[in-house]
Amino acid sequence: MRRLSLALTCLLVASLTVATRAAEKPPADFQKAMKDLGAAMGALAKPGASEDFALATKQAQASKDAFAVVVKYWNAKGAADAVKLADTGAKGAADLLVSASLSSSEGIQAAMKDMGATCQACHTAHREKTADGFEIK
Ligand code: HEC
Repeated sequence: MRRLSLALTCLLVASLTVATRAAEKPPADFQKAMKDLGAAMGALAKPGASEDFALATKQAQASKDAFAVVVKYWNAKGAADAVKLADTGAKGAADLLVSASLSSSEGIQAAMKDMGATCQACHTAHREKTADGFEIK
């Protein structure tokens, strides 16, 4: 009986910890990185963008810089799943830059796909919508 109530107490404490793990406001550099990623993906999704190597180069560089901020943030926070997604995104951005420099439309499309696959996955797990924007959870 005693053991049972101890187990129940542990469960209760654990569930309270989860429930009160509040979302936090994003640091300014993190939020800027996200806005830059949003702008880059938007520009790259336009018809013909993968043939426009100057545009791809510019957006790849912006994405690379943005993902560097994102990787740094999640490393410091120590959330393994987010670190993995951020690393994958950073690699996608680096591949994008290489493909743009090689004038490879196929490479650009493949790298965009790799990079783009990380957005939704991380937002589902770590982004919280609030009344006036987004927070990090
Ligand atoms: C490792 C996690 C992670 C990855 C990967 C990620 N995001 Fe985010 N993103 C977040 C979090 C957390 C927020 C909420 C905080 C914020 O708004 O800055 C966010 C917010 C955003 C916002 C809203 C910014 C604002 O506050 O107005 C945009 C736009 C965005 N992300 C675009 C992207 C795009 C595009 C990609 C992929 C190329 C991407 N994100 C990849 C975690 C991530």
